[in-house]
Amino acid sequence: MTIAARSETQHTANTPRSLMLINGSPVESADGRFIEIESPAKRTLIGQVPRASEVDVDKAVRAAAAAFDTWRSVPARDRGRMLLRIADAVEAETESIARTLALETGNAIRTQARPEVKSAADVFRYFGGVAGEIKGETVPLGEHVLSYTRREPIGVVGSIVPWNAPVILGTLKIAMAVAPGNTLVLKAAEDAPLALLHVARICNDFLPPGVANLLTGYGEECGAALARHPLVRKLSFTGSTEIGTLIMHAAADRIVPVTLELGGKSPAIVFPDADELRTVDGVIAGMRMTRQGQSCTAGSRLFLHRSIFDSFLGKLATRLAPLKIGDPLEETTDMGSIINRKQFDRVCSYIDDGLRQTGARLVLGGLPPTSGPLAEGYFVQPTVFAEVSNDWRIAREEIFGPVLVAIPWEDENEAIRMANDSHYGLAAYVWTHDLTKGLRIAHAIESGWVQVNQGLGQFPGQSYGGFKQSGMGREYSLEGMLDSYTQRKSVTVNLQ
Ligand code: NAI
Ligand code: MG
Repeated sequence: MTIAARSETQHTANTPRSLMLINGSPVESADGRFIEIESPAKRTLIGQVPRASEVDVDKAVRAAAAAFDTWRSVPARDRGRMLLRIADAVEAETESIARTLALETGNAIRTQARPEVKSAADVFRYFGGVAGEIKGETVPLGEHVLSYTRREPIGVVGSIVPWNAPVILGTLKIAMAVAPGNTLVLKAAEDAPLALLHVARICNDFLPPGVANLLTGYGEECGAALARHPLVRKLSFTGSTEIGTLIMHAAADRIVPVTLELGGKSPAIVFPDADELRTVDGVIAGMRMTRQGQSCTAGSRLFLHRSIFDSFLGKLATRLAPLKIGDPLEETTDMGSIINRKQFDRVCSYIDDGLRQTGARLVLGGLPPTSGPLAEGYFVQPTVFAEVSNDWRIAREEIFGPVLVAIPWEDENEAIRMANDSHYGLAAYVWTHDLTKGLRIAHAIESGWVQVNQGLGQFPGQSYGGFKQSGMGREYSLEGMLDSYTQRKSVTVNLQ
């Protein structure tokens, strides 16, 4: 594989340091160490954050534990009101948060970063609104018994988020934990902590100290220490299946409940009767191509009926070719860069693997350019392989890049079998004019979310989460919050 070495990162004097938030105050790491944050599109250093280790984790968890007793007894409606104020404040600062987010992630501001911040405000608003719905039930055990349940908070929640959509994922962890009365220690991803720090500062303007603490640091140091801290009563993780396994082991050691939102290799099944042009755009959207495919929900296995295989791929290439790749801060840019060198090399190695497969045909893209403006950052063009077999590595493993594999099928049952032949089960997309068929397929597919004739992102109110190794627990909804972030207590009173 030949990938031109990217130039060295540009060092600028005095990159600004953003501090972590523990007990409502901005803090350095105990030992003063820090991490440099790079813009992956421009290859410049844009900031520094503290490099938290076990001591800092302990400080944050103790602050959260101390805040819990008071926070849990704040009326739910008042907690909700604070989240509504946070929503307005985040919305008011959309531009500034979105610019930071675009710069640190490489995600284009118009197509990704700005909509992500707006969605984060919606998520705070949704959970602020439903905070009063944390209700129990009465149980009819007899006229002389009063039996009822309460939904109580669990305690200190330890949450860890990745870099691909750090603001929305961090917001979810904060809102779902604090609305029912838990307190939180959240670890940002080391590659993209700055925009989430901005959101956490806003949260701390409205929440009492210690309710929402934000740490910055590396996974093995800070994340692992958080996962095993004895005062953490609930773990919530979004990221790779590999690390999700470690989090679940840490949870098992202390019997704490765990929510995992992990990887995916989601199928998009296209029937010959689907409206081709609309489907082409929907497949591109479902693939999250303008987020460089860096999404756990990406519909990255495209199952095309043999009778439309070539015509569909022709139209797909025509729609993908003009996407403008480049500076994430440019309004006209459709698609930005991959997050860092490690992921860039990883994506390139999958493309290289695809190019070496006998029988596979490259429809579009390929290895990144070695010269010109795109060689300056970690840019990868939309890449489509045709005539792929469902058992190849590029069809089985999560690439987390703009690489789509097209697999032909003729028999509906064969399409379903291949779609389900994966250890993942997060999302799926079905494209057909026949709704009865669409629903039949939707019910047969093993995944937590099936979209029929659309390739959209999540909306607050719908439960989102995976089947199989894509995870456990649900996010984004009232039900998910009740199941994952509260515990039921039964109280039984003898009235005789
Ligand atoms: P990762 O799973 O290593 O990182 C996600 C978060 O976990 C980060 O905050 C990281 O600091 C933390 N972490 C890492 N090691 C840890 C440990 N031992 N204990 C506690 N926390 C730890 O993901 P990474 O390495 O950035 O990406 C690798 C692959 O993972 C991607 O190519 C993609 O396939 C998948 N991924 C899936 C995501 C999803 O949304 N489901 C998000 C990010 C990555
Ligand atoms: Mg990792």
